[in-house]
Formats: sequence, C-alpha cells, structure tokens
Amino acid sequence: MSSEHIAVAIDGPAASGKSTVAKTLAKRLGLIMVNTGAMYRAVAWATIKQEIDPSDAAAVVKMLDEVEFSCGVEDGFSTILVDGHYPGGELRQDAVNQRVSKVAAISEVRELLVQKQREYLDLGSVVMEGRDIGSVVFPNTPYKIYIDASEEVRLARRSAEGLTDAVAKRDAEDSKRKISPLMVADGAVKIDSSEMGIEEVVSAAIEVLRANGAPAELLERV
Ligand code: DC
Repeated sequence: MSSEHIAVAIDGPAASGKSTVAKTLAKRLGLIMVNTGAMYRAVAWATIKQEIDPSDAAAVVKMLDEVEFSCGVEDGFSTILVDGHYPGGELRQDAVNQRVSKVAAISEVRELLVQKQREYLDLGSVVMEGRDIGSVVFPNTPYKIYIDASEEVRLARRSAEGLTDAVAKRDAEDSKRKISPLMVADGAVKIDSSEMGIEEVVSAAIEVLRANGAPAELLERV
C-alpha cells in the first residue's frame, strides 16, 4: 500500500455477517467503511434500468462507458451514485440479487470497481468488505479477515431482514468464477460467526488487528 492509511480487508460469503462487523469495526475505529458489494449491485441495478442482459458482457462493458458510477463517502460510509442518482434500498432488490453475480464475473467491471475501491485509501484508512479485498484489492494488507457462517444461519439472517436471496446459488457463482473468485485470501484469519454474537465477532476482528501489528493509536480508540 502506498499511503500511511491502512486497509482492513473483510471477505466472506453472502449474509455471513461481514457487513455488520465491518460497520461496527469502522465506527469504533473511526475508519471509512466501504461496502464493495453495493458497487457491484449498482452496476447490476444499472443493467435493469438500461434494459441490458447482464450475461451479455459486451453490452455491459459498453454501458460502463455510457453510465457514470461515482463513489464517495457520507457519514463515514461509502456511497455510489449512478448517473447522479442514488439507488438506495433498490440495490437490495431480488432482481438485483439475481443479476449481480453475472456482472461481477465480467473482468472490465471488476477492473473499474477495483480501481475505485483502491482510490478510497487516498481519503483515509478503511474497513472494506467484499469477496476479493484480501486477495486482489489489497493483497499486501496485514489485516485480513474471512467471515463465514453456515448456510442455514445465513438464510435465516436474510429472511430476518425481510429479504429473499438465494445465498447458496450466489455463493456458488461467486466462488466458481475465473476472475477474483470468493476465497480465503493468503494470510487471512477465518472466523465462523454461526454461533457468535456481533460483539464476539468484532472482538475477534480487533484481536486480528492487534496480532498483526495495528498502530497502537488506532487500537486505543476501541
Ligand atoms: O456483499 P453483497 O452480497 O452485497 O455482494 C453482492 C455481489 O457482488 C456478490 O454476490 C458478489 C459481488 N461481489 C464481488 O464479486 N466482489 C466483491 N468484492 C463484492 C461483491
């Protein structure tokens, strides 16, 4: 990493609890929380608006030239605007769930979004969650966490949120794709959150930072 800012990489499958952990950790440490899934979701959402088949890679790549995706930060959280429009809760719609793994498998989509993800480090230190943060976006960060949970627990978490999401299908697609598949990155510490409460997982994550030499002034904030 080129700046003095640090990146905490949190990866894991859908509904593993990684967003909640990333949010809590970022808030406690005063870091920017970056939700990279929202960025892939924004591209999937744009294909709906533009009536583009998400499996048609050439059409999706063309769309990247025509539609502007601008990333920012609001109240410590990453935001994404599509042609100046904030898609908000629509990013969690089932129609988006069904398309997102397809657009996320397109190399040009990943190149564009990975570049935007790395640019966040110019703004400050980040807790970034996704699928390839420890393996591709920030492979040199010493702070890598992989959060997992059983499929049963993950489905229960989604339905408790009132959302339908075929998490196993999406994970299978995300794990078997050729480019940047969902994986446990080299050096990542795996935490199975199935039987753990949020506080316990956050404490385990803080221990990972401590064990890997996180700056004392950062750890003093918790
Ligand atoms: O974290 P999420 O469930 O909101 O992510 C939505 C989809 O985006 C996920 O199914 C795969 C893709 N994704 C990805 O390929 N790489 C990332 N770093 C984050 C998400």
